[in-house]
Amino acid sequence: MAKISKSFAKERIAQLRREIEEHNHSYYVLATPVISDFEYDMLMLELQGLEARFPEFASHDSPSLKVGSDLADPSEGFTQVEHRYPMLSLSNSYNEGELYDFHQRVANVAGEPFTYSCELKFDGTAICLIYKEGKLVQAITRGDGIKGDDVSRNIVSIESIPHILQGDNIPEEFEIRGEIFMPYEAFERLNEERTAAGEAPFANPRNAASGSLKLLNPSLVKERGLDCILYHLLGEDLPFSTHSEAIKAAASWGFHISEKSIEAKDMEEVIGYVKEWEERRKELPYATDGIVIKVNQLDIQRQLGYTAKSPRWATAFKFKPEQALTEVLSIDYQVGRTGAITPVANLEPVPLSGTTVRRASLHNLDQMELLDIRVGDLVYVEKGGEIIPKITGVEFSKRHADLPKPIFPTNCPDCGTPLERDPDQARHYCPNRDGCPTQIKGRFIHFVSRKAMDILAGEATISLFYDKGLIHTLPDLYRLKAEDILGLEGWQQKSVDNLLTSIEQSKQVPFERVLYALGIRHIGEATARVAASTFGSIDRLAAASKEDLLQVDDFGEIMAESLISYFADEANRLTIEELRSFGLQFALAKEEKVVLSDRLKGATIVVSGNFSISREEIKALIAAHGGKCVSSVSGKTAYLLSGEKSGPEKLRRAEKLGTKVITEEDLLKMIEEEVS
Ligand code: IVH
Repeated sequence: MAKISKSFAKERIAQLRREIEEHNHSYYVLATPVISDFEYDMLMLELQGLEARFPEFASHDSPSLKVGSDLADPSEGFTQVEHRYPMLSLSNSYNEGELYDFHQRVANVAGEPFTYSCELKFDGTAICLIYKEGKLVQAITRGDGIKGDDVSRNIVSIESIPHILQGDNIPEEFEIRGEIFMPYEAFERLNEERTAAGEAPFANPRNAASGSLKLLNPSLVKERGLDCILYHLLGEDLPFSTHSEAIKAAASWGFHISEKSIEAKDMEEVIGYVKEWEERRKELPYATDGIVIKVNQLDIQRQLGYTAKSPRWATAFKFKPEQALTEVLSIDYQVGRTGAITPVANLEPVPLSGTTVRRASLHNLDQMELLDIRVGDLVYVEKGGEIIPKITGVEFSKRHADLPKPIFPTNCPDCGTPLERDPDQARHYCPNRDGCPTQIKGRFIHFVSRKAMDILAGEATISLFYDKGLIHTLPDLYRLKAEDILGLEGWQQKSVDNLLTSIEQSKQVPFERVLYALGIRHIGEATARVAASTFGSIDRLAAASKEDLLQVDDFGEIMAESLISYFADEANRLTIEELRSFGLQFALAKEEKVVLSDRLKGATIVVSGNFSISREEIKALIAAHGGKCVSSVSGKTAYLLSGEKSGPEKLRRAEKLGTKVITEEDLLKMIEEEVS
């Protein structure tokens, strides 16, 4: 074991915790993972290893002790329900040695012969179904493992989940757990539809499945083609002595179970199964990310019990990400709506994880140089958490001697303007914001998209209008007249009317979506919402200083600077004025600002941790009583509202600065006093 100093371990533990928390947020809250599951597991393993070696640095709120989406806020529109039995996670094994270690731990406790159930590890979202008297009564997501969302109304539209069970010996009451997933075919179809509608595609089938479960309209869920395989039966006094017997009985009642599971008598057979499916997983029409190995005998399972995070009677062998080797046919340099240039490799089409890969992003010049990639090279492609496959390496042994280095363009491939490069960012940008056709069209496509102004125009319409000289700056959309469009190819009176009506209706789109629609760099949907609710109007937002912006919850340097430079640009201010003159919403509607009292008037409050109500509700309550929520504790902060698992860094800072730390109860008292 490598020698590590205490001070190094302390620093590295803090760094790993921070990184993992960030990745948890990207994965569970934003649903856009930035690293692959494998890379994530490696960070977690390193953290767990260091915490075990240096117990003096243990912390009850380390991410190593959390289960699943502890960080995920409960979804709006769904009721939170406590699980009867916590929904835990599985320990991971990455090699044969770790599987034998697992076996040894089990054998030490078992003291009698036992077998293993070997199963595919489905890559979807876990679900808990509760049945009483043979009828489905409730479906709950995993949530934080303790409480999940009641998604019963959406589950009803998944055909493979039976509502009424048939057959013999059905227990009076039981829970069955499994995985809801989106088969590759449905996933590809959904993403094609989303892309055509100008919406962001899902990064992977797993995110698509969990996103679909949280749709507020159950009939939309039905269209998504979700499937469900069940793998764990729980209840009091169930009449089974093995796991496989219980799962077979479940199948006879009408549940879908995996036909690929086997019973293995020893670790050699387990390893044979792992090796077989490491290869054969490619044949499956859905995503898997490993093999689950469970002790089959339920009395031995009971003897082994659970750690805080996972059962001791099971482990997951995680597959390495699937790779394919293919040829680079050419490299395109794409211009994005914000002017960023992205090199994209066109590849000889190759099947990978159930879909055909044709293109892969090379991100930027630094990445191209790091890979030392050339047109004609054979390269390894991998699918991580992202939708766009990654090129992870070049097979140099197959490189032809005379392949030239690709030349990164010095000018915009679209408008010819010399490219610029931010010194602190790896990307090249085309600075011709107002003259580069791709950037202008991209701005419109974003503006009209469903989550922004929801105007009935797709990419083809925007291109046509732009090419005909009808639109150049955003306000031009509101100047369009029927006679401008009638007569253009494919446009009839009815489609013109529909478009103009949707443009008219967009004037009622609330401020936070208008702000998002403007396409300010680094200001996504969620950030726009926070900015709108904090400042209330575009004028107050435009007048905010960088310090003011940095005080906003979840705002970082890059976002603050982007807003400052957006409002400093005269052309942008003109765009806003023109849009305002057409009647667009540049302030929150009056009734959205609920005012209950001014008990907290002028008080800046930092909210940290979990409460009996959601953080959103807490923040709304504070705002309704005149308080202002900010993200970091500073000399100006009046209170740190600290809930369960509140951030230790914030508590330390509050202590240092003498900021008053209050609990949810204190807050409620402060508010009540005023009301009575
Ligand atoms: S058994 C106590 N079996 O993997 C845990 N889980 O990483 C019992 N999963 O939360 C889970 N396929 O969502 C089990 N055949 C399988 C599975 C499976 C996928 C998921 C499940 C679990 C996660 C752990």
